[in-house]
Amino acid sequence: MPGMQIPFDHPSLSRIVDDLATHGWSQQTLFLPESLTRALAAECRKRAAEGELAPAGVGRGPAQEVREGIRGDHIQWLEPGEADACDRYLELMDSLREAMNRGLFLGLEDFECHFALYPPGAFYRKHLDRFRDDDRRTVSAVIYLNEDWLPEHGGQLRMSLKGDVERDVQPTGGCLVVFLSGEVPHEVLPAHRERLSLTGWFRRRGNEPF
Ligand code: OGA
Ligand code: MN
Repeated sequence: MPGMQIPFDHPSLSRIVDDLATHGWSQQTLFLPESLTRALAAECRKRAAEGELAPAGVGRGPAQEVREGIRGDHIQWLEPGEADACDRYLELMDSLREAMNRGLFLGLEDFECHFALYPPGAFYRKHLDRFRDDDRRTVSAVIYLNEDWLPEHGGQLRMSLKGDVERDVQPTGGCLVVFLSGEVPHEVLPAHRERLSLTGWFRRRGNEPF
């Protein structure tokens, strides 16, 4: 796909590393070229139309269950080799992983991510991304895929930062948010129109219990 080439030395990578070191989170408003954001959104909608997205569960392993009172999004995990746009995104996340390992010595080994579609009215209550019984998730990364998102559409990511500070991010197409999975509680406010994203986690080796 022409016009979708992303330089390996994406200028945001070092800013994200610096932000994580000083604040524990980072927001990059125009992280992806528009063509790639559009291609990812189209891929997400196609999968939704084909019935490939399923209601997300809460918790992990055998104890996982769907609880719409906690989270109402529908998801599908990404695998390499499924779509050109997805592979571009995975490559870019791999260069971010390497930049974080070089700059922060995090020892991140892999990246897992899923498409997420919030139907109108859906939300995700306040939570931490690191599971109590599995501490591999170290850095969370969410890229938003919504064109023309307005504040009245809701669906903001609300992060609870140190010192009781709350910070809202609009889920506007091409915007990337990165934060430390074990340290930043966050929630997704009710979205009043369909809200698309690609949400992922950089993981290090850990004490996987199952
Ligand atoms: C999650 C999550 C945030 C967002 O999927 O764990 O918190 O803004 N997503 O979509
Ligand atoms: Mn989360």
